[in-house]
Amino acid sequence: MATGADGTLRGGIAQTLLCYSALFFAFWVFTDYFLRKLRRLPPSPFPTLPVIGHLHLLKKPLHRTLANISARHGPVLLLQFGSRRVLSVSSPSAAEECLAKNDIVFANRPQLLAAKHLGNNCTTISWAPYGDNWRNLRRISALEIFSAHRLQTLAGIRADEVLLLLQRLRRNPPDQAVDMKALLFELMLNVMMRMIAGKRYYGENVAEVEKARRFREIVAETFRITGASNVADFLPALRWVGVRSLEKRLVALKANRDGFMQELIEEHRTGLAAAGESASEPDGKKKKKTMVEVLLSLQQSEPIYYTDEMIRGMMIVLLAAGTDTSAATMEWALSLLLNNPHVLHKAQSEIDARVGHDRLINESDLSDLPYLRCIINETMRLFPVGPLLVPHESSEECVVGGYRVPRGTMLLVNVWAIQNDPKTWAEPRKFMPERFEGLDGSRDGFKFMPFGSGRRGCPGEGLALKMVGLGLGSLIQCFEWERESEEMVDMSEGPGLTMPKARPLTAKCRPRPAMASLLS
Ligand code: HEM
Ligand SMILES: *[C@@H]1O[C@H](CO)[C@@H](O)[C@H](O)[C@H]1NC(C)=O
Ligand SMILES: *[C@@H]1O[C@H](CO)[C@@H](O)[C@H](O)[C@H]1NC(C)=O
Ligand SMILES: *[C@@H]1O[C@H](CO)[C@@H](O)[C@H](O)[C@H]1NC(C)=O
Ligand SMILES: *[C@@H]1O[C@H](CO)[C@@H](O)[C@H](O)[C@H]1NC(C)=O
Repeated sequence: MATGADGTLRGGIAQTLLCYSALFFAFWVFTDYFLRKLRRLPPSPFPTLPVIGHLHLLKKPLHRTLANISARHGPVLLLQFGSRRVLSVSSPSAAEECLAKNDIVFANRPQLLAAKHLGNNCTTISWAPYGDNWRNLRRISALEIFSAHRLQTLAGIRADEVLLLLQRLRRNPPDQAVDMKALLFELMLNVMMRMIAGKRYYGENVAEVEKARRFREIVAETFRITGASNVADFLPALRWVGVRSLEKRLVALKANRDGFMQELIEEHRTGLAAAGESASEPDGKKKKKTMVEVLLSLQQSEPIYYTDEMIRGMMIVLLAAGTDTSAATMEWALSLLLNNPHVLHKAQSEIDARVGHDRLINESDLSDLPYLRCIINETMRLFPVGPLLVPHESSEECVVGGYRVPRGTMLLVNVWAIQNDPKTWAEPRKFMPERFEGLDGSRDGFKFMPFGSGRRGCPGEGLALKMVGLGLGSLIQCFEWERESEEMVDMSEGPGLTMPKARPLTAKCRPRPAMASLLS
């Protein structure tokens, strides 16, 4: 029968096609595999699709997806994010190879879209490529902003803002839950902005209402933009299609922000000119200099280097890098304490024993509160707010884990995976601050590095630990804390750059009777 013959013929063609595609597929797999071997490149998940590479595999949150891929293909992976080659490492030894042995090679940053527009064309400390400009910015900030002396000078601001938060909480009816995420974030914005420029824009007693409104809008827009993942960084072709609008928003945001910061600089400049260099308070004490004042006085001696643009860039980096990170760490810590009341009570006993009830905890107490420090370490182990650090980039070819890594490869160090790996940490998802007791920090090296490591490591670590320690310690010392209901606090991670909590923390608190008088 004709149809029968036709059928066999079609079947035959289909079979041949199938056969050929199977052969082709096998050929592809083998060549891919052997070419990789031959070129000694790190393993990649299969397949690498044309144009998009591995973008189709990358679900949010990225640190969890990369950890899953690594569980199958090993701790050193080469991925293709569209047009960008990416090295993902997720073991302590591989991290050490990248951030210690090849520290200089990986001290570069990729020139991503947001860095180009918001990082003053990649000239700010966080986005500058490895080189003279970046080294200089690190040196200046180490001396003039992050030094123990400078941080000490501004300790009063931190204590003052924490006290205002405690007083605000005391006025809250104990049966009514408070939005702790918002309060902690506003605490950090006020602290950073006062240290930078002497201004506070959140809460009560805000002097310049209109300015504060503008500032809050800038902060909100920054979050809206950077919260959206930026595909254009990996698929340049898209920049000519839909993503143009994103670039427009980035440009508008930058203009808005620069205008705001410039006004602050001008205010300080006239203030500085009026007061002169040797400004002193009436009682003869040296005036406490804000960070902008410090940079402006450097500008007077070296105007070519300390341009207004450079100062604006520094103000914005400090605000962007310091606020959300510290606030989110405090929010995670408090959430963990609410779910583990026995830890909260142990921390409270430590503070009661070492500080007592007659005064509020202060920054000098922190070195005498090892359990509080263990809680902070354990929080940053479970919920590092930079789960993949900030992307690095190799400036030369180098070897990691025995594999060849080409130059110009973007590096993601999966700190989250390393710090939650059952091979390194017993019961890794369990909140157990005691595991840090008696743990020698130096020996632990690359198993725990919430602030990164090496040249590009976080310069704000000292400040962050003071701020988180003081904030969290004060909340524990002054209040009894309770979950909003019987239900445990939901600990899932939301999308976003600094690993935010998916659901903002709300909680109930009442002043501890022994502390109430100190808060009025
Ligand atoms: C809990 C709080 C904080 C955490 C967990 C944290 C973590 C980090 C991490 C993981 C990096 C990237 C390191 C790398 O790429 O290898 C970084 C970079 C940076 N951090 Fe922090 N940070 C915190 C607070 C702060 C604060 C308070 C400031 C300053 C006000 C700050 C300023 C910076 C800067 C300027 C960089 C860029 C350094 C560079 O590229 O050379 N950070 N931080
Ligand atoms: C990772 O793998 C686990 C178990 O294999 C799975 O439950 C989880 O959804 C995966 N997560 C991501 C982000 O792929
Ligand atoms: C950014 O820097 C590059 C190279 O240094 C330069 O070609 C470009 O014009 C700069 N762009 C802006 C907006 O300043
Ligand atoms: C903290 O309090 C103690 C005891 O009152 C005091 O000796 C110390 O100077 C205070 N430190 C700071 C930084 O205020
Ligand atoms: C917390 O971690 C740091 C960094 O690894 C370490 O130096 C320090 O000793 C730890 N502190 C405690 C109390 O475990």
